[in-house]
Amino acid sequence: MQNNRTMKFTSAFEQEVFEGLTSYPKHLSSKYFYDEIGDKLFQDIMAMPEYYLTDIEYAILEQNKAKIAALFSENNREFSLFELGAGDGKKTKILLRHLVEAQIPFDYRPIDISQNALDQLEESIKLEIPKVEVNPLQGTYFETLRDIHKVNGKKKVILFLGSNIGNLLHEQAVEFLGNLKDSLNDGDLVLMGFDQKKNPQTVLDAYNDATGITAAFNKNILARINRELGGNFNLDQFLHWEVYDPETGTAKSFLVAKEAQEVTIESLGLQIRLNRWETIHTEISQKYDDAVVEWLAERSGLKIVEEFTDDQQLYKNYIFKK
Ligand code: AVI
Repeated sequence: MQNNRTMKFTSAFEQEVFEGLTSYPKHLSSKYFYDEIGDKLFQDIMAMPEYYLTDIEYAILEQNKAKIAALFSENNREFSLFELGAGDGKKTKILLRHLVEAQIPFDYRPIDISQNALDQLEESIKLEIPKVEVNPLQGTYFETLRDIHKVNGKKKVILFLGSNIGNLLHEQAVEFLGNLKDSLNDGDLVLMGFDQKKNPQTVLDAYNDATGITAAFNKNILARINRELGGNFNLDQFLHWEVYDPETGTAKSFLVAKEAQEVTIESLGLQIRLNRWETIHTEISQKYDDAVVEWLAERSGLKIVEEFTDDQQLYKNYIFKK
């Protein structure tokens, strides 16, 4: 089989897999972790004691929900609550419940790359908080920012929780936040979670749990290539490897080939070779401090309105405006 560079790709997934696996060093994008199996594995990660991010953000929102809701509903204007990368919505439901109880008028517009995650979320909100009007949107962050921009007249509040911003390199984050800012009008707000720099061991443990859930999550990208693109990756031939650089605050995930191997991906007409100990870089999970968040906000034209944190400052939620 020949590597066929003139082929037409039928999806962004195909194109990015082709480009990532024919690059040196090899890489794949973590946005492709999330199919039905990946969504479930990520929910398992969020329930792990080592993955402190979820519980801490949950506690921050629970503790500050009244103050946050008051900022969202200032002047009692009706608003649309968008959520980028909504996932299972566990933390968002704290705010949804509070907004319903306080009789604040709003509708909820969750956005996720995974249709499966959106279907489950809509169903669970209908059951648990039936008074919330839910209008889901499926797509990537960049695509859906365009849709957000089209909502004219109504106030917008955008949630971006879970330190999802950390899966972007700083340059990508500035571009993303700049686009986000362009979709805001005066009075619109953004509530965003930023995992903070901390004891490096705590970070490593969160991304390298002993039960192997994170390893399975990382390897799901190969399993997904096998399932959807006719690949023949042998998952047992790869190690999940995590590194954390406390200077830059960047955690990086890799899949490391334990043996030299050849892999075929039928629908790409592609055969690749991996040397023994060759890496495929799959994800970054950036950790922040105040100076970096202020720098990102300034570079993308956002202003910090308010910040909320926990006792140990392990995690922070910021509210931004234009
Ligand atoms: C979704 N994202 C913010 C998670 C993170 O912490 O980077 C994904 C994740 N990767 C490994 N564990 C969790």
